[in-house]
Amino acid sequence: MPRVAPHVEAATVDSVAAFDYAPAPESRDIVRLDAEYGLFVGGEFHPAVSGRTFVTINPATEEPLASVAEAGVEDVDRAVAAARAAYEDGWGRLRGRERAKYLFRIARVIQERARELAVLESLDNGKPIRESRDVDIPLAAAHFFYYAGWADKLEHAGFGPQPRALGVAGQVIPWNFPLLMAAWKLAPALATGNTCVLKPAETTPLSALFLAQICQEVGLPPGTVNILTGAGATGAALVAHPGVDKVAFTGSTEVGKEIRRAVAGTHKRLTLELGGKAANVIFEDAPIDQAVEGIVNGIFFNQGHVCCAGSRLLVQESVADLVLDRLRERLATLRLGDPLDKNTDIGAINSAEQLAKIRGLADAGSEEGAERWSPPCTLPDRGFWFPPTVFTGVSQSHRIAREEIFGPVLSVLTFRTPAEAVAKANNTPYGLSAGVWTEKGSLILWMAQQLEAGVVWANTYNRFDPASPFGGYQESGFGREGGRHGLEGYLDG
Ligand code: NAI
Ligand code: MG
Repeated sequence: MPRVAPHVEAATVDSVAAFDYAPAPESRDIVRLDAEYGLFVGGEFHPAVSGRTFVTINPATEEPLASVAEAGVEDVDRAVAAARAAYEDGWGRLRGRERAKYLFRIARVIQERARELAVLESLDNGKPIRESRDVDIPLAAAHFFYYAGWADKLEHAGFGPQPRALGVAGQVIPWNFPLLMAAWKLAPALATGNTCVLKPAETTPLSALFLAQICQEVGLPPGTVNILTGAGATGAALVAHPGVDKVAFTGSTEVGKEIRRAVAGTHKRLTLELGGKAANVIFEDAPIDQAVEGIVNGIFFNQGHVCCAGSRLLVQESVADLVLDRLRERLATLRLGDPLDKNTDIGAINSAEQLAKIRGLADAGSEEGAERWSPPCTLPDRGFWFPPTVFTGVSQSHRIAREEIFGPVLSVLTFRTPAEAVAKANNTPYGLSAGVWTEKGSLILWMAQQLEAGVVWANTYNRFDPASPFGGYQESGFGREGGRHGLEGYLDG
């Protein structure tokens, strides 16, 4: 029996899709899953020394996908030793133009196997195939292509005349963009001559293991890239390992703070990409239909599991009713369901834990007095689902205006003047991203200067390019990924 989402006020939606879409599922058979996966250390797959494993599931169905090795302290030791050996005897001595060839090959194989990777990513993560196919996988390939281009030009990058690699990079990534975050970490590290031990998130290990197979396929020297699957304890052991020269982390601010404490007082270099609570600011002269698309893309892309999501909508009071009416109409046309269906807009929430967190914060929104709305929306029986949700009447002190929800939940606030918009936008401990929608170029430039955020998008949102640096202020972390700036965290100038 399909459940109907709570908090439905169908009467406020005056136009709904006239036609239903027939199912258009991508074939799952494109990707061949092994029953068990080992740790990728020294160019080969091995079971964990302890023999421990865990199961990764499809969050849209709760069906088990594969059993994966859980790396312990001994495995971290072995992987760091393999990375050290590869750094000293192989990768660290290669000319930049030779390293570039491997990166180009990895990029090309990602392109060749893009369909497999897209299905795998949607199975393990729950994201719509439209997004894994059109965003995650192409951007991951683009990242390797981009950094391949830098590998033989490092002396021109602006980080000293003879910049040198740091050594072994320990890298820990989250579950929201599993392959793309692996690419963000590995590509600049490898281009600059470092070797890597990467730990993917425990709910989404499969695309990183597929990438390990690609490393084998392109003949990457063994030990250059090592992939350790496991949970927080594995990540903590990697970060703490004395043989690691550089730690790069993307994930929650809470764990970022722990890592900063663990690394303090050591020789290790650190970059952190953490949470966000971005303001998406709509001025009254903005092109409203485009802005509505930008709001939807800002918070409902990837089920809102996006660190730079536009989770706080700041809309100028004079157009607030208009924008909210159009937004509700648009949300009523979003299709939630099977992530492998090519028509799906909203997929599954990545895990039961994340669903519980979203539910808890949304309930807090209602309890604190904000008004909750979701379009009519049928949630599948199995799996983890949350309907697109909009809160109006939100005040700055509400938890839903301050805390990262990391789900498809938008908090709407209003403002009257640009100064008030800036004050509200900056009223957050985070500072990763922001959006500005207006026709006035001068206002865009002024806002970009005033907003304390690493990225400010103007009349667009969630637009990524490997050539463009990305990173935060304050509790969103430090260091930049992407672009020339992304080389700096892996070089000793
Ligand atoms: P998390 O920060 O616990 O997990 C991210 C990665 O860090 C995973 O690979 C995890 O295994 C690893 N990890 C966990 N504890 C560690 C430790 N002590 N040392 C080293 N590595 C460790 O995030 P989680 O629990 O998956 O999500 C919780 C919340 O964090 C989300 O609800 C969201 O608000 C936020 N988050 C933000 C992300 C971002 O990109 N900014 C990504 C993922 C989560
Ligand atoms: Mg999974």
